Amino acid sequence: MEAEVENKNMNTEKLKEIVAFRAVDELVTSGMKLGIGTGSTALLAAARIGERYENGELKDLLVVPASFETRMECQKYGLNIHSLNDRVIDGELDLTIDGADEVDTRKNLIKGGGGGLLLEKIVGYVSRDYCIIVDQGKLVPHLCSNRGIPVEVIPEAMRSVSKHLEGLGGGVTLRMARMKAGPVITEKGNIILDTLFPAEILKDPVAMERELNSIPGVVENGLFTREVNFLYVAYRDGSVKKNPVL
Ligand code: 5RP
Repeated sequence: MEAEVENKNMNTEKLKEIVAFRAVDELVTSGMKLGIGTGSTALLAAARIGERYENGELKDLLVVPASFETRMECQKYGLNIHSLNDRVIDGELDLTIDGADEVDTRKNLIKGGGGGLLLEKIVGYVSRDYCIIVDQGKLVPHLCSNRGIPVEVIPEAMRSVSKHLEGLGGGVTLRMARMKAGPVITEKGNIILDTLFPAEILKDPVAMERELNSIPGVVENGLFTREVNFLYVAYRDGSVKKNPVL
């Protein structure tokens, strides 16, 4: 049984690598202003970009990482790291590559499983093109199939926002840290309320994304409904499809 579980995990890791490499090899070109998201799949994309930069295949890349962890991965390869406010970036990117926690049949996403939704959303939404890389396990018939929507909240507003989310029909869980006492604190000093909505309440993810952000104390939420220009999916048989019909 343990061996089976290990095998399954190894397989998923391999799928993440295949899909990350394929997207980078097809989409990233020299001279791009590039956003890189967060999570294990996005880190593999960062590594692939780094390798191709180091061996001279990619030149003059300007990279904006969406988290501390991704920044560290980019630093390993000596990539040119920038903030969105730097003059050479000026708040605009050519392409962002990121992973996701759930992808529905209309390519709406839940993100923020790693807690990085705020910067991931800013980087993703200011990009001309948006590329999402996932393994088949992330495809769901509707959002909130396997997990709630992470809602990043100013700590002082925990109770008021929780009540508001419950009033909308959500089941709210404060995300707790694993190797630290107390809640997860995001890179911007906020807490995360994972909020599970039944399918009948989450019929219109675009409206819900806006509604969640209108609650006082909410900084950002993990529903991502901007257009996904490129969706790469790695399937269990090892094949990768670009923009598959879902
Ligand atoms: C982090 C994210 C990640 O993109 C999402 O959690 C997917 O992670 P992984 O590639 O490790 O499965 O949104 O906040």
